[in-house]
Amino acid sequence: MELFNKEYTKQYLTNNHHINENGELILEPVKYRWTHGATDLHLGDGLLVYSLIQFIRAKICVCIGTGGGFIPRIMTQARKDLWEQKIFKGNPQNEWGDIGTTIIVDASNGIGGFTDWTEENSFLRQHFTPQIIIETSERAFYDYFVRQDIKINYLHIDGDHSYEGVKKDFELYSTLISENGIITIHDTDKQYHNTFLVPDNQKGDFNTFDGPTKFIKELESNTEWNLVNLKNFIMFDKKVSSTGLTLLTRK
Ligand SMILES: C[S@@+](CC[C@H](N)C(=O)[O-])C[C@H]1O[C@@H](n2cnc3c(N)ncnc32)[C@H](O)[C@@H]1O
Repeated sequence: MELFNKEYTKQYLTNNHHINENGELILEPVKYRWTHGATDLHLGDGLLVYSLIQFIRAKICVCIGTGGGFIPRIMTQARKDLWEQKIFKGNPQNEWGDIGTTIIVDASNGIGGFTDWTEENSFLRQHFTPQIIIETSERAFYDYFVRQDIKINYLHIDGDHSYEGVKKDFELYSTLISENGIITIHDTDKQYHNTFLVPDNQKGDFNTFDGPTKFIKELESNTEWNLVNLKNFIMFDKKVSSTGLTLLTRK
């Protein structure tokens, strides 16, 4: 007996897969899964995200900044499981049924990371069918979320990693969070960021990626949100379980 199906984890959550002409299973690690501490058989900080969504029974889950879609997969899986567990009822269709939706907001313009789901037949779209907004998070806020008055139950911020970018995402989208909603911000472990080795020709970009670590320092003294920093860099061995996840709930 097992709590999780590791073969499913490997084939769908932490890898994309296809069968080659010789009938062999070919696995391709989901982009940026390592930043979540995920491996073939392990979900890293995705397990925390899964648990938080299950705990608050989050229906509207939004991921700003998506890369290969690791966190959106977890969001959809948690919602589908809530239906199988008979917590959610009704039509279990991934995105337009009664079990809520997973919304991806990603500029997908090569700035701050790469995506692999813009094609209709991409692995992510075929198997997890998220709603996809290919736009900057700022424009999506005004022209999608505000216009439809969407309230978000679970928000993951992992888009523009500059200080100004992460601050703007938080300040805009936190106004849309429902009563018991949760926000997580990724890449918030300062020690991890400061010790990461970056190829010389990419240093310019990377140096502006310290926004999350700077912003959460500032958030510590805010009066509206409780903040918990989860990090485990340099504990026990080198199998880090996240580049830092900060969890926020309303006071
Ligand atoms: C490191 S990836 C995120 C990884 C992801 N959360 C996951 O589940 O593995 C960063 C993403 O942010 C996106 N991005 C950067 N700036 C953005 C902006 N202003 N608005 C929306 N997306 C942005 C990039 O296109 C990239 O896909």
